[in-house]
Amino acid sequence: LLQNKMMVVISNREPYMHVRVGREIECIVPASGMVTAMEPILKACGGLWIASGSGDADKETVDEHDKVSVPPYENKYTLRRVWLTKEQENHFYYGFSNEGLWPLCHIAHTRPVFRKIDWDYYVEVNQLYAKAVLEEIKNEDDPFILVQDYHFALLPLFIKQERPDAKVAIFWHIPWPNPESFGICPWQKELLQGMLGADLIGFHTQYHCNNFLETVNNALESRVIWESFSVKVGNHFTLVKPFPISIAFTLKNYEAEPTPRQEPAELLKQHGITAQYMCIGVERIDYTKGLIEKFLAVERFLDKYPDYQGQFTLVQIGAVSRSLLKTYSDTVNAVEAEINRINGKFKTKNWQPILFLKRHHSHEEIMPYYKGANLCMVTSLHDGMNLVAKEFIASRDQNDGVLILSRFAGASQELHGAIIVNPYDIEKTADAIKQALEMPKDKQYQKMKQMRRMIMNHNVYAWASNILRSMASIQN
Ligand code: G6P
Repeated sequence: LLQNKMMVVISNREPYMHVRVGREIECIVPASGMVTAMEPILKACGGLWIASGSGDADKETVDEHDKVSVPPYENKYTLRRVWLTKEQENHFYYGFSNEGLWPLCHIAHTRPVFRKIDWDYYVEVNQLYAKAVLEEIKNEDDPFILVQDYHFALLPLFIKQERPDAKVAIFWHIPWPNPESFGICPWQKELLQGMLGADLIGFHTQYHCNNFLETVNNALESRVIWESFSVKVGNHFTLVKPFPISIAFTLKNYEAEPTPRQEPAELLKQHGITAQYMCIGVERIDYTKGLIEKFLAVERFLDKYPDYQGQFTLVQIGAVSRSLLKTYSDTVNAVEAEINRINGKFKTKNWQPILFLKRHHSHEEIMPYYKGANLCMVTSLHDGMNLVAKEFIASRDQNDGVLILSRFAGASQELHGAIIVNPYDIEKTADAIKQALEMPKDKQYQKMKQMRRMIMNHNVYAWASNILRSMASIQN
């Protein structure tokens, strides 16, 4: 598809960060659904990924062009790091991106904050990245540029103004709200115009595409062509299409022999807990993830079905995220307080209902819990897709286990074998835990098998090739 054309991916979060651990430098993959999805594509296709340097040893590991070959020892593609100043990081990343756009797009009832200074830095950093991209593609004909996420809404226009021959797509990894919600943003016009510089705009679901088109319809003079889901600005057309993102799960993985796994009781024993049933949760500690709601459902489940007291533990893996923001440190405190309260209420000498593993875990560290758990709970209050749900399913090579999934995650539109819940409904979510634990094996098998097949057929390679094919078919 790429036919010797250069592929450039741009995101704020880098796929590998180099950090100092004592006297050694370690390479870490950060907790990010966007990274989980994009990394296998770059590994398979090669190309260039431009992202912000964020590890304390990042500067020491790049060459004189700020580039490093990754993955370490595999050298499949090039990572170019862009260095942001403290002010740029504060206002572009923490400010406009994560206090403005993040709560604006997620309906989790956290009020967005829009400061002029954050916006100014958002524009500045988008310009900085445009400069880096233009530099990299100066000797390339018709390159393919894949802009990732809400940090870079202005980048498509900045690139296209200089290089109309480039094919530019932007993929929005988070939801797009309705026009009334989005309309409170003082810079909605500029953001929309920036995105509409792209040839292709991708969301996870048709619903988010429709919200976007309605927002454009309300806010701009540009013409929305509903029959073709596109927007005409002057002579330029932008196609708006759903591309549900996925994970690197192939036919080979699907057909592979089951690998050994630890049973729930063994996994819990390693943490000094004696219990028979285990539920796994894996999230960045973020107010959109519905962690408190999940804990309340566990509490209600144990109150309502006391036979499970002493028998059931939720292992919650939580990576601290965006911790300079008060809403995020408040969320960490609220999560810990709620866990302590619930554990205090029920715990015995050898058992507690919630085990909180509060640190970043690598994929390899999470795997045994995915594979061994009886169930996985994803209770996001609003989520673009949610790849934890898909990773849990992919890990279940014995076709057993149950997924409880929020109806407010994009994944709920595809994973029909999950028990779908409204995480605000504590009573029903508590009942869903019981239903999951008591689901007959043959039913688990049938649902899991169907979901595994779905993910294999719609894996992230299919996602990327759909996007590239759509880009290739667009005439500039
Ligand atoms: C979401 C966003 C990603 C982001 C990730 C982690 O999944 O869509 O773009 O990388 O959260 O957040 P962070 O701010 O740590 O990059």
